Amino acid sequence: MVRKKVYVTRKVPEPGLSMLSAECDVTLNKKPEPPSRKEMLRNVAGRDGILCMLSDRIDSRMMDAAGPSLKVISSYSTGFEHIDVKEATARGIYVTSTSDILAEATADMTFALILACARNIVNGDRLVREGRWKVGWAPDLMLGYNVHDATLGIIGLGRIGSAVARRAKGFGMKILYYSRNRNPKLEQELGVTYAGLDDLLIRSDYVSIHASMNSASHHMIDREKLDKMKKTAFLINTSRGQVTNEADLARALKSEQIAGAGLDVFEKEPLPKTSPLAKMKNVVLLPHIGSATHQTRSKMSEVAAKNLLDVLDGKEPDPAFLVNPQVRSVRPLH
Ligand code: GLV
Repeated sequence: MVRKKVYVTRKVPEPGLSMLSAECDVTLNKKPEPPSRKEMLRNVAGRDGILCMLSDRIDSRMMDAAGPSLKVISSYSTGFEHIDVKEATARGIYVTSTSDILAEATADMTFALILACARNIVNGDRLVREGRWKVGWAPDLMLGYNVHDATLGIIGLGRIGSAVARRAKGFGMKILYYSRNRNPKLEQELGVTYAGLDDLLIRSDYVSIHASMNSASHHMIDREKLDKMKKTAFLINTSRGQVTNEADLARALKSEQIAGAGLDVFEKEPLPKTSPLAKMKNVVLLPHIGSATHQTRSKMSEVAAKNLLDVLDGKEPDPAFLVNPQVRSVRPLH
C-alpha cells in the first residue's frame, strides 16, 4: 500500500509524531520557529494531509500549492481563524481542530493571571530578587485587591469561559457573563448572570475575555469600552490579542484608567520589544502559553494526529473536532 504523505509544520509533543510516522511519510519542520511562507508553499506540494499550528496561514494559495491530493488540514489548536475554512470546504478538504481539549488548562492560566494581577505576584517576585525588599513585613507593602467576593465578568461563555466560571465559584465570586447567545441552562448550572457588554464592564472587578476570534469580536474591547471599566478593575485576556485594541489598552493602562491587565495573547506575537506594554508595571505578560501543560499539549497532539489519520483512513473524524461538517457532502468518507 502506498504510504500517505503528511506535512507537519512544528515539532509537537508526543505521541502525535509517532502516530503519524507509523502510517505515513512525514515531512517535519524541525526548526523551533514556524516555516516561512515560501518554505511552507514548497513543502505542502503533493501532501495528503497537513498538521498545522495557529501561526500557519492556510489560504487558497496554500491549498493550490498542496494540489488535489490534500484531503485534511488538522490544526493543533482550538482556534482556526488561520485557515480559510470556506475555501477548504468547497475543495472537499476536511478541517479539524483540537477544540475544547485545552479548556481546563486555559482556565487554570486565566486564574493564574487574575491572582497574579490582583496580588502583585510578579512585582513582588521582582522586588525580592532584585534586593529591593528593605524592611521585612510592612503594613502597606504591595497592597492588592481581593479576588474572593469580587465580581468577575466573563466575555464568551464557551467551554473555557464556563471552566473559568466554575473556578470563580470556588473563590466566592459574583459572576456575570456576556455572550452573543444567552444560555439560560448554563446560567443555572454555573450560577452566572447574563449582562449586556457595557453593563458587565461597568460592574466587574475582573473582566476575562474568552471570545473566539471573528469579525464581530475584532477590537471588541476598545477605548470606549475600556472607559466603562472601574479604575480598580483588571482586564485578563487568554483568547486572542485582536479582540482588544492593544493601543487603546496601553493608553488605558498608562493613564491608570484601569488598574491593570493580565495578557497571554497579543495583536502581534511575539510581542514587539518596542511595545509600550513591555514597560508597564501594572501588566502581567505571558508568551501565549494558556494551554501549555505537558498533559494538555500531549492530548492535543494525540487528537490532532488522530483527526488527520481518520480522514486519510477514510473514517469520519470525531464530530467534536470537525470544523466544517458541510464538507461531508462535498467529499463523503466511507
Ligand atoms: C491557542 O490559542 C489555540 O487556539 O489552541
